[in-house]
Amino acid sequence: MSRYLSKNGKTLNVLLPADALAERVRELAVEIDEYYEGREVVVVIVLKGAFIFAADLVRHIHTPITIDFIRLQSYGDDTYSSRVIQITADLRSSVEDCEVLVVEDIIDTGRCADFLINHLYDLGAADVKFCALLDKPSRREIAIEADWVGFSISDVFIVGYGTDFAQLYRNLPNIYILGKSV
Ligand code: IMP
Ligand code: MG
Repeated sequence: MSRYLSKNGKTLNVLLPADALAERVRELAVEIDEYYEGREVVVVIVLKGAFIFAADLVRHIHTPITIDFIRLQSYGDDTYSSRVIQITADLRSSVEDCEVLVVEDIIDTGRCADFLINHLYDLGAADVKFCALLDKPSRREIAIEADWVGFSISDVFIVGYGTDFAQLYRNLPNIYILGKSV
């Protein structure tokens, strides 16, 4: 297992190597295609964390899709329950009466997912499904389940394959557990 020190002295240990990610992403695309049976879908990609996952996923999807992006920011103090979620860049296309598939990196407390799903229904979506690469069920504060999950993981902080810590590590091809500074 590759292990090296990152620039800021934190340790990175591979949790999910690139080949395992690629295989699971292909499986998810098959499941998504089976569900939609050729109906047209609006894929909403949540920036920034889902950009690499989504780029890989949509290239294996045969369902006719259009693609749009949304960017969220969640801020407040460190206690999740007091966090405020804001849209910093909204969709440019209409989702009215559309079937929508949200593609997100991680469901953690569930607050972002819950916010997004409500937002899309407020915009008139006919149906909203949710695909998350990673799920941390033990961290959930809002009872919400994704329709498709790549991997269920324990309560660890991960980076890589699009996900970050302080905006770093998004470019790494594997998913790593970010450890303490040494
Ligand atoms: P939630 O609203 O608590 O479910 O937070 C989901 C968002 O938090 C994800 O879209 C990620 O951007 C971020 N996040 C949660 N856990 C991690 C992690 O382990 N690494 C990087 N980002 C994370
Ligand atoms: Mg995110």
